[in-house]
Amino acid sequence: MTAVSSPVPGPPAAGAPGPGPDGPDATVSVPPFAVIPGAQVRRVLQGREDQIVQLVEATYRLHSAGDSVNPPSYFLRFPDRPASRIIALPASIGGPVRVDGLKWISSFPQNVAAGIPRASAVLILNDHDTGYPFACLESSIISATRTAASAALAADWLSREREGGGRPARIGFFGTGLIARYIHTFLAATGWRFHETGVHDRSADSAAGFRGYLEQSGTGGRITVHERAEDLIRSSDLVVFATIAGLPHVTELSWFGHNPLVLHISLRDLAPEILLASGNIVDDVEHCLKANTSPHLAEQLTGNRDFLLGTLDDVMAGRVSVPADRPVVFSPFGLGVLDLAVGKYVYDEVVRSGELNVIDEFFHELRRYG
Ligand SMILES: NC(=O)c1ccc[n+]([C@@H]2O[C@H](COP(=O)([O-])OP(=O)(O)OC[C@H]3O[C@@H](n4cnc5c(N)ncnc54)[C@H](O)[C@@H]3O)[C@@H](O)[C@H]2O)c1
Repeated sequence: MTAVSSPVPGPPAAGAPGPGPDGPDATVSVPPFAVIPGAQVRRVLQGREDQIVQLVEATYRLHSAGDSVNPPSYFLRFPDRPASRIIALPASIGGPVRVDGLKWISSFPQNVAAGIPRASAVLILNDHDTGYPFACLESSIISATRTAASAALAADWLSREREGGGRPARIGFFGTGLIARYIHTFLAATGWRFHETGVHDRSADSAAGFRGYLEQSGTGGRITVHERAEDLIRSSDLVVFATIAGLPHVTELSWFGHNPLVLHISLRDLAPEILLASGNIVDDVEHCLKANTSPHLAEQLTGNRDFLLGTLDDVMAGRVSVPADRPVVFSPFGLGVLDLAVGKYVYDEVVRSGELNVIDEFFHELRRYG
């Protein structure tokens, strides 16, 4: 393994230039292949929350403008392990990022009981011009980061655009694992302050662990662990769902009578009836109305998509206004283009630092006729 400092763009040849049918084209070469471990990913992303939120915002705008390709995610499921899955998110992004790639992310919920994280992932970046993969990045951090940045972006825009709006000062976390921690970190780092932070988890250990994290993080205000879901929701103006529920388990519309802003990150917690009584914003309509998410169930129940107000980009562009007289629910399916944008940002920063770990001779069969 070799550390190199500047292989992009137009990475140096790791082997011979690729000969085309009319002979070799000296401008096209095989990029070196690098591996970026989680420790490097974390060093790049830590403390850059504002920049990452801006990057995610710009990526949503690019995606909405059509400068991306983001096919449906593919869910690999196992008859012998029904709670587990591995999802493939292929994507391509244009604009200044200009990269293709794939996130391959596993969710094995039983890992948590064994003391290791539920989700694990890699991100492959492919060179725009040759298609060659040029980096493999540890991606559970990238995935959690882009999810939290998207949640913080949505919280900001949706609270700002709401009539009579302002930032809610009472937050409640429903499901308190790694994603909840990242979302809290992103909100705090982007200027949110809470008088009250509510915590609810079906696991007392998780609730206590999250409380410990909150206390260490120096968050101000009161922290309350709610045993009852109802108490958490009724006492929060910003509710973050980050459970691993596969089917809706929150069915009482009256709990939302105070019209909170809801970040429905785990996508399957809310009964469709609650969505039908709410203003619904998604990241991408076609993506979100799939895989039995609550919005997908609402579509199946009504036979139409009238319950959707639009996308976050519609809100950012002023095409959709955000109601104050009912709950507002943001359901982000999670787009591969966000992983690509954050992954390429990490790659570029690691290159800049001169610490890119290149795997020598990764691509080895480079002459067509030997
Ligand atoms: N939309 C997106 O873009 C996106 C991206 C990443 C993760 N996610 C989702 O975020 C969720 C959380 O991920 P994580 O890594 O934090 O998982 P995790 O396993 O670390 O934490 C989940 C927590 O939810 C709790 N929980 C599960 N069911 C519950 C219920 N019915 N009521 C109360 N608590 C419950 C668990 O006890 C656990 O503490 C997952 O569903 C994941 O798929 C969404």
